[in-house]
Amino acid sequence: MDRQVKYLLPESQMPQHWYNVVADLPSPPPPPLHPGTGQPVGPDDLAPLFPGALIAQEVSAERHIAIPAEVLDVYRLWRPTPLFRARRLERDLGTPARIYYKYEGGSPAGSHKPNTAVPQAYYNAAEGVTKLTTETGAGQWGSALAFASALFGLELEVWMVRASYDQKPYRKMLMETYGATVHPSPSDLTNAGRGVLAEDPASSGSLGIAISEAVEVAAGDPEARYALGSVLNHVLMHQTIIGEEAIKQLAEAGDTPDVIVGCTGGGSNFGGLTFPFLREKLAGRMNPVIRAVEPAACPSFTRGVYAYDFGDTAGFTPLLKMHTLGHEFIPDPIHAGGLRYHGMSPLLSHIYELGLIEAVAKPQSECFAAGLRFARTEGIVPAPEPTHAVAACIEEAIRCKETGEEKVILTALCGHGLLDLAAYGDYMSGELRDLRLTDKAIEDALAGCLPLSSDLPGCLPLLSDWPGYRALAVRVARPDSARAPMHALT
Ligand SMILES: Cc1ncc(COP(=O)(O)O)c(C=O)c1O
Repeated sequence: MDRQVKYLLPESQMPQHWYNVVADLPSPPPPPLHPGTGQPVGPDDLAPLFPGALIAQEVSAERHIAIPAEVLDVYRLWRPTPLFRARRLERDLGTPARIYYKYEGGSPAGSHKPNTAVPQAYYNAAEGVTKLTTETGAGQWGSALAFASALFGLELEVWMVRASYDQKPYRKMLMETYGATVHPSPSDLTNAGRGVLAEDPASSGSLGIAISEAVEVAAGDPEARYALGSVLNHVLMHQTIIGEEAIKQLAEAGDTPDVIVGCTGGGSNFGGLTFPFLREKLAGRMNPVIRAVEPAACPSFTRGVYAYDFGDTAGFTPLLKMHTLGHEFIPDPIHAGGLRYHGMSPLLSHIYELGLIEAVAKPQSECFAAGLRFARTEGIVPAPEPTHAVAACIEEAIRCKETGEEKVILTALCGHGLLDLAAYGDYMSGELRDLRLTDKAIEDALAGCLPLSSDLPGCLPLLSDWPGYRALAVRVARPDSARAPMHALT
């Protein structure tokens, strides 16, 4: 028994509820604001973009939300996912630490993203929506939503960040195999994309730009809605099935975590793994250190500001209070495309401000080195995003070797890298650069770009003076746009 490597739950023990961490926090996260009024957005503002069920989940304070039977049926294709004890990696490191990883790469799309793609497609289809639009960074989210859309009979149009579109042709083919249409972003199909291309025809794109394009198209089509693969409360909540399973599996292994590390792009796999453990921590039943790992090239937690900002580049979304590098920040086209987001989940940002989690940033060469080490010991090639988590795991395990501590380290190996081998190839042939992001670059990205710096709607006069907002108002030629619902701004 002490050589056990996989901790498997039977389907009968698959969690039946998602966990909403908002119910247990000492204070709720600040609400999203309407960019025209500075007031919290209401369901009517969001209705052009999301189905009612997801809007209700976004603002819910219920502790548990039942997973619909139709979603559980699809989850059973790959869930529960295994929890592995990384015995070979431990031996290779010579660490007394015990390392566990929850592996989400066995899903049809190869990552944790179907955990939310499936319910999002389900709720849209249930409310009569026929088409979805979305953005994708690495192509993992786009593949996941393409898979889920195929199952629920939805048409899907995907804007894929140009850098990834060029680096990962097989992700595009996978999305098309599931029946989706894929455009590189920025594209000339939208105002947002054309605006970026006019300034920089060779733009490598960003998640912020791709979101603007997908939102613009959904908002202009009454039959369509928009789906987001990270950042929002309901998305993180759908991912909590990861942590709920992991709690049961670690208990079976007879361990409780001392340190939990996870990579953060918009925060969904990290929130999904850690929120159920945070509940246990808040209840005094365990006390793990919870550490987010972000790329040094896009360090929203560690070097961004905590302020209201747009979720997208064009400024079509509500204002979200989050750690941000500014919505015009375009990160270096690092290979971990899924981590190239200028902001961070508002819920996680709030939890970070409450001091309940910590964050570190890692350069990609350290992460790929960790990915190789993991592949050569555990056998699974991690996606570039979770190599950040693996690097932080290894760092902690080496610390344990120095101090002799037998810590229990848990992480999410949230996707495989079999369609990311070109990035590994670049690393192995020495072509991969670690660009240093200067303070000046961050200051420039933030300057003149943040519409609000406090959480009070009282800054409204500032807001209507904000250049991005004026540009938007001119673009849509609506003098009353300050009072129009958000979708009218597109
Ligand atoms: C495999 C993988 N991990 C992590 C991420 C980052 O997203 P999040 O922080 O929402 O988990 C992505 C995003 O595309 C991804 O594809």
